[in-house]
Amino acid sequence: MTEWWRDAVFYEIYVRSFADSNGDGVGDLAGITARLEYVRDLGVDAIWLTPVYPSPQRDFGYDVTDHCDVDPRYGSLADFDALTARAHELGLRVILDYVPNHTSDVHPWFTEHPDRYLWHDGPPPNNWVSVFGGPAWEQVGERSYYHAYLREQPDLDWRNPEVREAMYDVLRFWLERGVDGFRVDALRQLLKDPQLRDNPPNPDFAPGMPEYDSLLPLHTTDLDELQEIVAELRAVIGDRLFIAEVYVEIERLMRYYAGGAQMPFNFHLLSTPWEAEAIGDLIERYEAALPDGAWPNWVLGNHDRPRIASRVGAAQARVAAMLLLTLRGTPTLYYGDEIGMTDVPVQRSDPDGRDPERTPMQWTRDGGFTTGEPWLPYGDLTINVEDDPHSMLALHRRLLALRRGFAEEGYRTLHAADGVLAYARGEHTAVALNLTGEPRPLPVGGELLLSTHLDGGARGLRADEGVVLRI
Ligand code: NOJ
Repeated sequence: MTEWWRDAVFYEIYVRSFADSNGDGVGDLAGITARLEYVRDLGVDAIWLTPVYPSPQRDFGYDVTDHCDVDPRYGSLADFDALTARAHELGLRVILDYVPNHTSDVHPWFTEHPDRYLWHDGPPPNNWVSVFGGPAWEQVGERSYYHAYLREQPDLDWRNPEVREAMYDVLRFWLERGVDGFRVDALRQLLKDPQLRDNPPNPDFAPGMPEYDSLLPLHTTDLDELQEIVAELRAVIGDRLFIAEVYVEIERLMRYYAGGAQMPFNFHLLSTPWEAEAIGDLIERYEAALPDGAWPNWVLGNHDRPRIASRVGAAQARVAAMLLLTLRGTPTLYYGDEIGMTDVPVQRSDPDGRDPERTPMQWTRDGGFTTGEPWLPYGDLTINVEDDPHSMLALHRRLLALRRGFAEEGYRTLHAADGVLAYARGEHTAVALNLTGEPRPLPVGGELLLSTHLDGGARGLRADEGVVLRI
């Protein structure tokens, strides 16, 4: 099996918001195809497309009504084939979002094959809570069905062999169409406790946290038996890439490698305080936990979490980009982060309040995403690809080119001043990141290869500066 994904950089495209080719205000596949040269020139290797399937869009495509087609808002299967062909011509791989845990409640299966879903005979049997809040059971007459997410997203019953076969056929359908791999959605949710036991209270729950966090999802997620399914998925996916969406502790995350996922998404940077010590500890813990042969990966943003530039501010977002693109492991970059897009305060459509991080790609000072009315408003349009006034895009391009020189090298923490995160990559490269707004000494001497300020550097680290050095 070729391991092309080890040295690769992934770019997540939120399909609704990347590029609109027909002026209806919603992004589409032809729009993406027309922008693939931009993606190639950025210097990434693979695109991950959020769900393209027909869907009533209650959860923007994560509520599927047909796993083997394309939503007409986004185009057709022919548009998908054209996108894949063009991507491959440009040397880009294509990763599809695969949504196995649930379907839309208007998927024909829900009425024609209700036995493919998780039903309980009677009213809700336990205290299980939906990820989006409220009870995870919906009573219909005498019976109740389980939904980990919206009530319009009933969970499939993965203990039913017919479900497994039907869902494996979906993978085969797209493999034949030439996709290079899958990002498997909500993988940890696939199996639930057959005894339907209550989830225990979360001792760390505090007011203000989402209701879902009031319980520990012990009986609803990450069950031991799930690894059998992971192995089956691995077998069907064969020589292509299996990325797993699993929000679990580092130690438990490692089991997904054993089961056969090559990239169990490492989301821990998203929830670690933006402090040198905390991030340094995280890297050490993650590196130490990796089983033999497992390859690390890092995620700094996605369509479910606030954008990095809003979380840490514009100055530190540059340092964050250097972190993501110089750590050991495959990075996944969220569209728009390469120009420093920020969250846009808007609450129009998403049931979980995630509109702010999903706004249209800012191509030009007029927007450039659509000729019509964008489905969500643009953010600050002084931030755009065409002008790149803050050279954020230039910084990303430089980093993406530079990392090729040390992508496979080992990681070693370097001793540094308070507030500075420093590490070596192999024998000849060092990275020093000043996570503070004050100057700091450089932890090592060396020749400057790149500063986040994109200039010749200074004697020490300036406020909010990161550097890559040849040592
Ligand atoms: C994770 C996806 O990233 C998120 O956007 C979605 O709402 C849930 N899974 C449910 O499919």
